[in-house]
Amino acid sequence: MEKTFLMVKPDGIQRGLIGEIVTRFEKKGLKLCAGKMMVVSEEQAKTHYIEHESKPFFGSLIRYITSGPVFAMVWEGKDAIALTRSMIGATKPTEAAPGTIRGDYAMEMSRNIIHGSDSAESAEREIANMFDADELLSYEQVTAKWLYE
Ligand code: GTP
Ligand code: MG
Repeated sequence: MEKTFLMVKPDGIQRGLIGEIVTRFEKKGLKLCAGKMMVVSEEQAKTHYIEHESKPFFGSLIRYITSGPVFAMVWEGKDAIALTRSMIGATKPTEAAPGTIRGDYAMEMSRNIIHGSDSAESAEREIANMFDADELLSYEQVTAKWLYE
């Protein structure tokens, strides 16, 4: 099964949205493998957003993601990366469809509530950047036989 790295960003924490966000992924059928409150270090933030290093907004992006606690998570499921990206919605809140997390809760691209990995390679790198291997739990999801054919 595919794993993805999801993170409620500092604005999502301050606005009290952890429960709402976790509930959506639980109800969908994804399996939570790891989750923790943490403050992202500057070094971790730069590794996490390495692809945006040369962009003009890089400095403000790093300040935003390190500005307060985040809730870092690893979720697992069939096509978990594509599924969670579609549940998160487009980067720009004006383009994020109603019903998606950003479509329902975000007003601005630079305060868009949640991060989700965009590929298997990013997921692997992002998980390793935020979690030790022993923080990821492997267990049977008893509903799996009702979620998957
Ligand atoms: P993440 O899940 O956070 O990676 O968002 P994303 O995959 O939808 O977008 P992307 O990886 O392209 O950009 C990462 C983050 O940088 C976005 O979530 C925004 O917070 C921020 N960002 C992206 N583009 C812009 C921009 O043009 N201006 C500003 N201010 N922020 C941007
Ligand atoms: Mg991204």
